[in-house]
Amino acid sequence: MKLLGIETSCDETAAAIVARSPDGRGTILSNIVRSQLDEHAPYGGVVPELAARAHVSHLDHIITRALSEANVALSDLDGIAATAGPGLIGGVLVGLTTAKAIAAATNKPLIAVNHLEAHALTARLTDNIPFPYLMLLVSGGHSQFVLVRGVGDYERWGTTIDDALGEAFDKVAKLLGLGVPGGPAVEKLAQSGDARRFAFPRPLLNQPGLDFSFSGLKTAVRLAAEHAAPLSNQDAADIAASFQATVAKVVETRARSALVRLRTTHPEAPARLVVAGGVAANRTIAAALARATADAGADLVVPPIPLCTDNGVMVAWAGAERLALGASDSLATAAKARWPLDSADMGVIHAA
Ligand code: KG4
Ligand code: ZN
Repeated sequence: MKLLGIETSCDETAAAIVARSPDGRGTILSNIVRSQLDEHAPYGGVVPELAARAHVSHLDHIITRALSEANVALSDLDGIAATAGPGLIGGVLVGLTTAKAIAAATNKPLIAVNHLEAHALTARLTDNIPFPYLMLLVSGGHSQFVLVRGVGDYERWGTTIDDALGEAFDKVAKLLGLGVPGGPAVEKLAQSGDARRFAFPRPLLNQPGLDFSFSGLKTAVRLAAEHAAPLSNQDAADIAASFQATVAKVVETRARSALVRLRTTHPEAPARLVVAGGVAANRTIAAALARATADAGADLVVPPIPLCTDNGVMVAWAGAERLALGASDSLATAAKARWPLDSADMGVIHAA
């Protein structure tokens, strides 16, 4: 089966065509992503209204390109998938409404995809892994450990009680006067910094459980920057490096605990940690996760970075997984700003 996937929940306008064979293997036929970085850069963050307008302006031609690069006509498709939430509601509405219109005009099934489920299932496309598996999603909007039991079947083991990890990177970048997106800028600056110069707090680490908290750390970084002001380039690099080392340590420690919990509660599950979300691109964090998994005798699965950040492929693939199990959605399906993975309306359809 072939699906069109549409992603418009944040600041990427994306469309892709993905094919799924009956044995469950996927093939990416096209993958078009238009980032809105330039539109939002002057404001130091994503402006929801501008994002929605940019999706309106660009989505049609991005879908046309996805179809033509895949050499697929609308009539060849088996389903139309779009992110239906969670995300910035104006953008989600643009993508979901477009998908509904195409589904209605072509009489094909609509699949209203949860954006977090799309991140969660990507590793099944790239690495063909079976359920269940432990996933760490670290992006601009989310930081959570999730046990992926099946399509639509998620158990959240820990989440951030305040800022997401990518958001913390973005805020530290802003504080240090770096551009957007903040994560890559902080990582680059940190390369020339001394990670031992500042001892930042490691929030929640002395508490059990798998939750994260990054807002106190962000405040500590701000205070350190104010104390050292005016900042030389070396000061800024040392702050970036110390911040990055701190969050890497936090993520590593939590990953170790999550793998212990996996082994204890699901001894039948393969020892494996799947990472998703834009922060997976960070090499210090990736190295910390590699240490945690190696010590636990577990596999670390990180899909290629362009598939970890927001894209249409993951939406098309999640749509394909659902459609293959006989699920599709009504054209009356509403867009949702909030839609946790473990909510009752995930439509649990498969737990094998
Ligand atoms: O998954 P993503 O592309 O978008 C969503 O939030 O859904 O993640 C973007 C986030 C941003 O906060 C960005 O600063 C962060 O991922 N990020 C990074 C790096 N690359 C992207 N954070 C740290 N280091 C990086 N190299
Ligand atoms: Zn995302």
